[in-house]
Amino acid sequence: MHLLRAENLSHSFEYELFKDVNFSLKPKESLSVLGVSGSGKSTLLHICSTLLKPKVGNVFLFDKNLYRCSYGEILHVRRFDVGIIFQSHYLFKGFLTYENIELANVISGNPLDKELVKRLKIEQFMNYKIGDLSGGQQQRVSIARVLSKKPKIIFADEPTGNLDDKTAQEVMDILLEYVEKEDAALMLVTHNTHLAKQCTYMKHLHVGGLIEEN
Ligand SMILES: Nc1ncnc2c1ncn2[C@@H]1O[C@H](COP(=O)(O)OP(=O)(O)OP(=O)(O)O)[C@@H](O)[C@H]1O
Ligand SMILES: [Mg+2]
Repeated sequence: MHLLRAENLSHSFEYELFKDVNFSLKPKESLSVLGVSGSGKSTLLHICSTLLKPKVGNVFLFDKNLYRCSYGEILHVRRFDVGIIFQSHYLFKGFLTYENIELANVISGNPLDKELVKRLKIEQFMNYKIGDLSGGQQQRVSIARVLSKKPKIIFADEPTGNLDDKTAQEVMDILLEYVEKEDAALMLVTHNTHLAKQCTYMKHLHVGGLIEEN
């Protein structure tokens, strides 16, 4: 069974971004997507993660044709089955760190994973207001929040963009271990080729499509 299958995806706004994108992910597999700024990486990630219907093609999540589902079904998948780490992390600014993470726990019914909080090194910030944290700290809170939901597929849009090399590698380890342990999958957008190489597949987004890296 595939967790995610992209079939002939094409998308354009004012001009064509990409066409004929095909790939699939099974449990325990990961895909990194590289590409120049503006090539459509975030757009492709949004299409695969329930947020944007493609102009052409189909997305199958858990072998179900996503954009043929009712709006209610799509919302259910978004809420329970996928975890999206956004390029700009949408945390609730006026709330405390633990309240932001707890929100995901309430939605999913999972208890707070104290080990995860510790490994992401945000334990000491649990009682801080989000607005008082640095960009990298906020990024790690948003990762904790997403993983707390126990999603079957993680979509991560430059999740290590604000982090130093060592912390970035630690976050990458956490994501890959999660995928292995939970039989989940990961679609990762990054500019960091060192991290990208650690995924099962590494591809480059071009106007012509998604090309395998050597
Ligand atoms: N909702 C939208 N309406 C119109 N144009 C859009 C929309 N979303 C994205 N675009 C355009 O599509 C192009 C691709 O954007 P996208 O965010 O997918 O690129 P990206 O590869 O993620 O870039 P970066 O590496 O800078 O994050 C950009 O030129 C952007 O302006
Ligand atoms: Mg982007």
